[in-house]
Amino acid sequence: MKIRKVIFPVGGLGTRFYPITRAVPKEMLGILDKPLIHYAFEEALSAGIEQFIFVTRHGKNSIEDYFDYILTHSDDFSTDRCSFCYVRQSEPRGLGHAVLCAKHLVNDEPFAVISADDYISHDKSCIGEMIQNYDGSNMAAIMNVSKKDVSKYGIMDVEKETDKVVIAKSVDEKPSVENAKSTNAIVGRYILTHEIFDVLKDLKPGVKNEIQLTDALLQMIPTHGLTGFKFEGERFDCGSKEGLLSAVLHVSMKDKKLAGIVKNFCGSLEP
Ligand code: UTP
Repeated sequence: MKIRKVIFPVGGLGTRFYPITRAVPKEMLGILDKPLIHYAFEEALSAGIEQFIFVTRHGKNSIEDYFDYILTHSDDFSTDRCSFCYVRQSEPRGLGHAVLCAKHLVNDEPFAVISADDYISHDKSCIGEMIQNYDGSNMAAIMNVSKKDVSKYGIMDVEKETDKVVIAKSVDEKPSVENAKSTNAIVGRYILTHEIFDVLKDLKPGVKNEIQLTDALLQMIPTHGLTGFKFEGERFDCGSKEGLLSAVLHVSMKDKKLAGIVKNFCGSLEP
C-alpha cells in the first residue's frame, strides 16, 4: 500500500536536554554534521514519502529554516514531488496530541509517523520496511528491551508472533516492571489509519497527564488491530544524553578518519 505522508512530531520540550533545549530544538541536536531531524527526513524520503508534515511549536523555527536551506541546496529530491508543511502544536500535550494537530493535512489515508529522537541506523529505511509489510492495521516498530527498562516504553502484549511481526492483544504505556506483559517495546515509527484522529480527539490525558498515542492504539485494537513490526538495525534513544553520545560514536566509527580519532582517544584513557 502506498503511504504518501509522514508526520514528524517535533513539539516536545526535550527536558532531558535542558538547558540546551531551552533555545535549540532537540531535533536539531546533531549526529556529527546533520541534525536528528535530517536523518528522519532521509529515512522517510527513501521510503517514497512525498509530503513531510512537521508538528512544531514556539522556539522550533530553526527546523523550518534548516529545511528551507536543504530544499534549495540538495539534489537528492525534487520539489515537484515533495512538499513540506508546518503546523503548530500550541502547547506540548503529548505525542497523541501532536499527531492530532496534523489531522487536516492527512485527511483520509494511512500515514507514517517518525520521532526524530529515535535514530535507527540501518542500510535500509526502517519506515520503508514497515510500508512494505503494512497490512492495513495500525502498526508500530518494536524492539525487545530488558525487563528493567519496560517503564520507559509502550509495551505490547502478544496475541500471535512471527519472525517479523507481533499481533498485539493489548498495549500499555510505561507499565511498571511488575505489570509489564512482555518486553516488546514500541519505538518512534508508526503507520496509522486515519480513523485514529477520531479516537485521539476524544481521548483523556493518560500517563504524565499527556494525550498518549498508545492509549488510542489500545482503544482501536478491536476495530483496526495493532501490529508490532520487528525492525532491523540499531536504535539509539537520542532523546537521552547516553543515546545521543552512543549515536555520535556509532556514526563516527563508520568513518575511517573519525574512527581513528575515537580509537586514539579511548586508547589514551587506558591505564
Ligand atoms: P518525548 O517523549 O521524548 O518528549 O517525545 P520530549 O518532550 O520531546 O522530551 P523529554 O522527555 O521532555 O526530554 C517523543 C517525540 O514526540 C514529540 C517530541 O518532539 C519527540 O519527537 N512530542 C512530544 C511532540 O511533538 N509534542 C508533545 O507534546 C510531546
